[in-house]
Amino acid sequence: MHGAAGEDGVVSRRRSILVRPVTATAFFDRASELARLQQAVESLRKGSPQWVAVLGSRKVGKTSLLLELMRREHREDTAFAVLDTFEDGPPSAELFRRLALRVVDAFFARELGASLESLSARPDEYKATLVESKSCAKLPRELRTLLLGLPEVRADMRLAELALRLGERLATALDRHCVVAWDEFQALARLKLRAAGDALRLARAVWQKHQRTAYFVCGSERTMLRDLVSRVKSERSPCSRTM
Ligand SMILES: Nc1ncnc2c1ncn2[C@@H]1O[C@H](COP(=O)(O)OP(=O)(O)O)[C@@H](O)[C@H]1O
Ligand SMILES: [Mg+2]
Repeated sequence: MHGAAGEDGVVSRRRSILVRPVTATAFFDRASELARLQQAVESLRKGSPQWVAVLGSRKVGKTSLLLELMRREHREDTAFAVLDTFEDGPPSAELFRRLALRVVDAFFARELGASLESLSARPDEYKATLVESKSCAKLPRELRTLLLGLPEVRADMRLAELALRLGERLATALDRHCVVAWDEFQALARLKLRAAGDALRLARAVWQKHQRTAYFVCGSERTMLRDLVSRVKSERSPCSRTM
């Protein structure tokens, strides 16, 4: 997107009016970026998950693009989790609780008609709601226990690993697909997790093996994101896209 000189200017004028990500009727343009991501979703549904890096500076519209994609592409067989590293302020290990809850919502919220992420501040209500899900009842007991404990588990390396694996585990158990789309992803490099090094390295190590999840990583550090997707095995068709 940095190519067209006037475009960033248009987006930043819009930004002075609204500061939240926009979707639906408030969402303009971005046809080629949407088409590229839709193609990656299609490929995931056919059994070939891709990693896509979406490169663009802050406030250019990356989160809006991801949320709009999720809105347009929603289908029972594909769960979408969209996250921004900075949505709760400076990132900490709590970010992984947010990721895990968002993945849980991606799989169960529609069936339950409720957001488990919103309920997580009231663990009893969260648990009572989650156990009503028919698809949750199909999960192996160990995984179900982990999900039920999410609101209260300690935010540490184990939670980070669980959160990073969760989309793939649920997709496998429920015979679905998952998209994890993460804005300001490069900032994970600054989040240190004991024993695992930084969170970005952990994410890459965990995600390499995944077969049912597509990863859309977005941010402004072009070299790092390009490097990240280009290290993924070639059958995953890594690709980067500049906004
Ligand atoms: N496609 C779009 N159509 C209209 N306005 C947009 C669009 N994308 C972004 N904006 C404007 O820019 C602001 C920042 O968008 P956001 O998606 O949060 O950017 P980023 O995630 O890149 O920081 C939004 O609040 C909105 O006002
Ligand atoms: Mg964003």
